[in-house]
Amino acid sequence: MATIGTDVLRAKAILEQGELVAIPTETVYGLAGNALNLSAVTKIFQVKNRPSFDPLIVHTNSLERASSFLKHIPDMAYTLAEALWPGPLTLLLEKQPNVPDLVTSGLDRVAIRIPNHPMTLQLLTQLDFPLAAPSANPFGYISPTEAIHVNDQLGAKLEYILDGGPCSVGVESTIVGFEDGKPWVYRTGGTSIEQIEALIGSVSVQSHSTSNPAAPGMLKSHYAPTKPLIIGDLQTLTQQYEGKNFGILSFDRSFGAVAADKQITLSPMGSTQEAAQKLFGALRVLDKLPIEFILAEYVPEKGLGKAINDRLKRASIQL
Ligand code: TXA
Ligand code: MG
Repeated sequence: MATIGTDVLRAKAILEQGELVAIPTETVYGLAGNALNLSAVTKIFQVKNRPSFDPLIVHTNSLERASSFLKHIPDMAYTLAEALWPGPLTLLLEKQPNVPDLVTSGLDRVAIRIPNHPMTLQLLTQLDFPLAAPSANPFGYISPTEAIHVNDQLGAKLEYILDGGPCSVGVESTIVGFEDGKPWVYRTGGTSIEQIEALIGSVSVQSHSTSNPAAPGMLKSHYAPTKPLIIGDLQTLTQQYEGKNFGILSFDRSFGAVAADKQITLSPMGSTQEAAQKLFGALRVLDKLPIEFILAEYVPEKGLGKAINDRLKRASIQL
């Protein structure tokens, strides 16, 4: 198992040797390596069991540093970066040759962001290279929002996990790119569409590509627990499956007819922000319970609700 700790200097030393460290961000934990070191980047793909056609996000700590990896920052991208970085926003922009093709899977755009976590910002400030970091989970499984989640699945392959506590946002960054000058959201996430549209006007949201996706986080089946997850009206579903051994993931209410220890309510006060923060941890808990399947419901489509529903949909079995 990996050592879990808060020693930024130890993390820095490991990264400088070309090895990997799991790092906290406000969205989910990342599996980080030197983005400019091909051997480190190769290790990321190996440890995650990730196909090499699925490119990595580059993390840095200033807009100035980000610029050094980009050909050009369109005005709208600049507006978003100024307003929302550090934060749960990834920009997909044309890369400079200094970003290895391995990081972008040969694509000419690089995904880049400044994460909003004090420990990781401190680490990035002290490093003279950016960090490539996908979510620190095996490919296709639920992203980790606590250090222990990383240790559970990747601990055997890692020396050190930098523990920054539970992630405050809880779903991955929103990915925004531009096509013919028009903004596209390729993955809904921790920055809401409302926040983005307030800054740059209306955006198109692309989702649920089944083949050759611009971002494989868009693949239909992703972020999935090992137990089947069925989404629908929970009142109806609990009646339909009465007598069966299931767990419940609800938004703001609980169900008297089902044992309390088999249900998780994401936000009794009805906040999509709180629900996002708890979502992946709740799915992990339910996945470990002695139940056969999970029943869940969609949350309201406002704020972070879109990102939550997107993750639920991809985690579910498609009936
Ligand atoms: O919040 C986050 O974004 C977290 C934290 C660790 O920063 N990272 C994350 O990385 O979610 P990952 O690798 O699990 O998801 C990144 C998504 C993938 O769907 C990938 O295909 C897409 O971003 N992506 C990365 N680079 C890309 C590129 N050059 N072109 C198109 N899509 C890209
Ligand atoms: Mg991921």
